[in-house]
Amino acid sequence: MKKHLVKIISVALIVSSSIGLFGCKSSTGNKVDEIKKAGVILVGTSGDYPPYEFHGDVNGKDEIVGFDIEIAKQIAKDLGVKLVIKDMKFDALLASLNTNKVDFVMAGMTPTPERATSVDFSKIYYTAVQTIVIRAKDKDLIKNLADLKDKVIAVQKGSIQEGIAKEQLPNSKVIALPKISDEILELKNNKVDALIVEAPVAAAYISNNKDLIIAEVKLQGDDSGSAVGIKKGNTALVDAVNKTLDKLITEKQIDKLVTDATDKVIAK
Ligand code: ARG
Repeated sequence: MKKHLVKIISVALIVSSSIGLFGCKSSTGNKVDEIKKAGVILVGTSGDYPPYEFHGDVNGKDEIVGFDIEIAKQIAKDLGVKLVIKDMKFDALLASLNTNKVDFVMAGMTPTPERATSVDFSKIYYTAVQTIVIRAKDKDLIKNLADLKDKVIAVQKGSIQEGIAKEQLPNSKVIALPKISDEILELKNNKVDALIVEAPVAAAYISNNKDLIIAEVKLQGDDSGSAVGIKKGNTALVDAVNKTLDKLITEKQIDKLVTDATDKVIAK
């Protein structure tokens, strides 16, 4: 009787562990097939980066809009699925890929070698230069890197600007804030003296804050591209995303989407 029970239990164990194995297999299988089956794709973003992604009024409703979102919609459309947007802090984005909270990330994210150790990237779909934003009244005070000595510089937490500031402005005080919109407020309120953001973002915020300007200061090697972040090993999804990007790039759609999004910011 006892022997019998042992046998039943061990058979049950073998059966359940092989079910487990199969279960496992399907979840590490083709991510694109899974997404198509689910009918939705989740994009993670940080909606504080106009014209890339920002809060906009869509028929009286607060929604995340911007050219990254338009590109994400196109990616979803080409896969035949619905796009769902998850807005979060920029420094939470990479982890959200690895914990499967989102399927891809679009947040004006620069594909650095360091980030590429934890996630994969698509090709670069857009490139911008780094700029320094200051108060308009400081125009003649801050003209070059040396003028930023002992000044307080705000950067976004987890962004490449954080590294740029620490490297190129060792004599300044660098503070990292979770959101760009907070940096803008701190600058307007004289709590910080300058902030580093990509040019289109600087232009977008300045268009709505006439007390701010882009400084004449030039940073070194200041080009940075944006790419789509995807969890490591999802080659099929990287390929699908690159296919959509290729199409948009060849059709010269990206610049158009950037212009449209910028117009929306200015109209705000
Ligand atoms: N390109 C910079 C980086 O990758 C900044 C991106 C910030 N994006 C955002 N949505 N706030 O670090």
